[in-house]
Amino acid sequence: MTVITCIDDLKRIYERRVPRMFFDYAESGSWTEQTFRENTSDFEDIYLRQRVAVDMSGRSTASQMIGQDVAMPVALAPVGLTGMQCADGEIKAARAAEKFGVPFTLSTMSINSIEDVAEATTAPFWFQLYTMRDTDYVSRLIQRAKDAKCSALVITLDLQILGQRHKDLKNGLSAPPKLTPSTIANLMTKWRWGIEMLGAKRRNFGNIVGHVDGISDSKDLGAWTAESFDPTLDWDKVAKIKEEWGGKVILKGILDAEDAKMALKVGADAIIVSNHGGRQLDGAMSSIRALPSILEAVGDQVEVHLDSGIRSGQDILKALAMGASGTYIGRAFVYGLGAMGEAGVTKALEVLHKELDTSMALCGRRRIDELGRDVLLIPEDFEGRWQA
Ligand SMILES: Cc1cc2nc3c(=O)[nH]c(=O)nc-3n(C[C@H](O)[C@H](O)[C@H](O)COP(=O)(O)O)c2cc1C
Repeated sequence: MTVITCIDDLKRIYERRVPRMFFDYAESGSWTEQTFRENTSDFEDIYLRQRVAVDMSGRSTASQMIGQDVAMPVALAPVGLTGMQCADGEIKAARAAEKFGVPFTLSTMSINSIEDVAEATTAPFWFQLYTMRDTDYVSRLIQRAKDAKCSALVITLDLQILGQRHKDLKNGLSAPPKLTPSTIANLMTKWRWGIEMLGAKRRNFGNIVGHVDGISDSKDLGAWTAESFDPTLDWDKVAKIKEEWGGKVILKGILDAEDAKMALKVGADAIIVSNHGGRQLDGAMSSIRALPSILEAVGDQVEVHLDSGIRSGQDILKALAMGASGTYIGRAFVYGLGAMGEAGVTKALEVLHKELDTSMALCGRRRIDELGRDVLLIPEDFEGRWQA
């Protein structure tokens, strides 16, 4: 039995247990994967200042995100196809998040539906919306999220068109997997995943199948999703969706100070500095490098959250100390889920919590609200100086 001490341990088990096409789906970025790589490596350019002889008793990582209490400011990011990484994956991840006391965000492109997750949990979760051309369908989705008592709508703005991931095309990614000789050969080595999947509540997109005319099974789905994202999405439409929702709104996928100002104008409750985990615009800046200029532009007027590249509590500490008031993990919880189901997500959260708590203490800080830039050594040219 492997002793799990870090997120990388979960990733290794995940890689062994889950069919290659779903591992590749999570563990890749678009095109050359430059942005995907730099999301994690750029954290290493920032150093933590070790401080000593500071009373470190009575520590806490408790905080708030959009006015909601959280055990630590780390939410589970929306991840499509989570229910293909592990049977009933969204339900398991949401339960682990609820028990730990952190927010869970359900993707539009989830396997378990909004209703499945609502039924299996008691804490309100957040719903991530992709805007589709079919505005009636979007309105119905918003209504379903209201009925499920979701406490925030996360509108993703960086995927009106899909960035290309080479491996997904080569693997013929689909849910459920298409049975070609190579997928069958691979699935045969993942028998535990397969047996669990036979008992899953669903094996295709639970928020879509049966809710959109003409989509009765997964055969029609690939074509539908490719054509469905709304290329005309603009700030006016974002404002209209916000009005229709009427509750807390988080705008996801902001990487530029000018867009952060627009998000502020439409009245977002929070923005997520994100490049979709390096899955959309390859060649864009890492989130942690983009964070300072966005904080400078809007940081005193709207909550600024960050995702993309977080693999440790030290990464979380760096983002918070730089000025973010919340963070999200995508792959870090997917590794845990694929490795060990609900217990694996809990393990991922425990690992990150311990790393965050211990590192905070070694920086001489006891509480999240004591974190500031004076905890960090940030290179002078970290943000870069760019030609006008
Ligand atoms: C496998 C996978 C699927 C994703 N699906 C969605 C999605 O459906 N909606 C969305 O807004 N973001 C999606 N994302 C992006 C995540 O919400 C988040 O921005 C990203 O995972 C953060 O980077 P990290 O994985 O390095 O933590 C996905 C990310 C991954 C890895």
